[in-house]
Amino acid sequence: METVAEHPSSLLGKHIVLGVTGGIAAYKAVEVVSRLRKKGAHVHVIMTRGAQNFVTELTFREMSDAPVLTDMWAKVTHYHVEHIALAQLADAVLVAPATANFLAKAACGLADDMLTTTLLATKAPIFVAPAMNTAMYENAITQENIEKLRSRGIHIVEPASGQLACGTSGAGRLPEPVELVAVLEQFFHAAANDTLCVGTKTTECSSVGANGEQKHDLASRKILVTAGGTHEPLDPVRFLGNRSTGKMGFAVAEAAAARGADVVLVAGPVNLATPAGVRRVDVLTAQEMHDAVLAEYETADAVIKAAAVADYRPKERAGQKIKKKDGSLFLELVRNPDILKELGERKTHQILVGFAAETEHVLEYAAGKLQKKNLDFIVANDVSRTDAGFSADTNCVTILGCDGTKTQPPLMSKRALADVILDCVAGAMAEKRKD
Ligand code: CTP
Repeated sequence: METVAEHPSSLLGKHIVLGVTGGIAAYKAVEVVSRLRKKGAHVHVIMTRGAQNFVTELTFREMSDAPVLTDMWAKVTHYHVEHIALAQLADAVLVAPATANFLAKAACGLADDMLTTTLLATKAPIFVAPAMNTAMYENAITQENIEKLRSRGIHIVEPASGQLACGTSGAGRLPEPVELVAVLEQFFHAAANDTLCVGTKTTECSSVGANGEQKHDLASRKILVTAGGTHEPLDPVRFLGNRSTGKMGFAVAEAAAARGADVVLVAGPVNLATPAGVRRVDVLTAQEMHDAVLAEYETADAVIKAAAVADYRPKERAGQKIKKKDGSLFLELVRNPDILKELGERKTHQILVGFAAETEHVLEYAAGKLQKKNLDFIVANDVSRTDAGFSADTNCVTILGCDGTKTQPPLMSKRALADVILDCVAGAMAEKRKD
């Protein structure tokens, strides 16, 4: 018996083919099956030979309550011509985790096992979640393979950063099962509501055109993105900072570059790799961010200010480490420039997008900032939620437009949300052209 979520999910009744390849994160795929089923989806698992070294077929069979495919040549009776039958049945295919070896095979179009064969035979949207050691992930060959897959309309679910099974730390961790399920759920939700995608089975997301190719609607546009927090030094060893990880801004930069834009990413101190094709300018303080942004502003077509900028800095910066004394220490803080407000005042042709990270009265405060800073859009973000805001890989926002529009995408990955924001920007640019 399947358990169906209380509020009908966009995954209800969908057939999801889950490909599991041979990485340590294969164990997380078990929870993906469980979560998909709780949302009412039918899950069909295909395991590669490598995957069977990490998790048994029996586990997936029990969790999915369906046969698990492991071998192309085994005599099985549940499907007519197995890879074709599953490929046709699928509403979506998710490969999680996807190893470097799998990515290489898929990028070349090899079809030497049940999973790669099914991928070639399906017309359903395909989502691939790479997971591996950071060095393997960052290797130019792996990145090339990922780009190749992306350019063919395959949705890449970016890996998270953090502690990896091999003991190192960096990008390459499989996103949490809840996030992987959220990616599929938002995809079907958007398809059903026509907000992000159109059509059904062969639908592609907003970054992908009707022909399944990556959209290039921002080609020859200069997009300036800011990301991360700022550090305001107190002395040579201490600073005032905030919890921003930069994930949202980096996702926007990556998405804009994929859509053909000339992207300049002004980044505060964050621990993230520069997305392919992006020009990055590293800064530390709000003043440095101000100077870097202003230097690029005039020639920019749009500015997306995802950075969490410190509003204040210590009045004095001690030349030497501040030594402790008896009693309390009082710090005098002075105002930093409000970069976005200044951009709003100097705006000529640019489309300006701000972010409002709030913990209460989210829409009211965001609407105030939209107007006060002369913005075209503001992305209102309730940072008190655990599945949205600073360190999460997913985000749930409302995008308010200066013309009164209100876009409310469902909970989705920051990378997918980046495309929704860019859709707003591209739309506003097109409108401007008409004027
Ligand atoms: N911002 C900026 N410069 C600042 C502060 C904020 O450019 N000194 C930008 C942020 O990048 C964001 C938007 O303004 O896009 C809103 O930032 P937020 O911190 O939410 O609001 P503030 O304007 O700082 O207002 P408050 O702190 O009072 O909520």
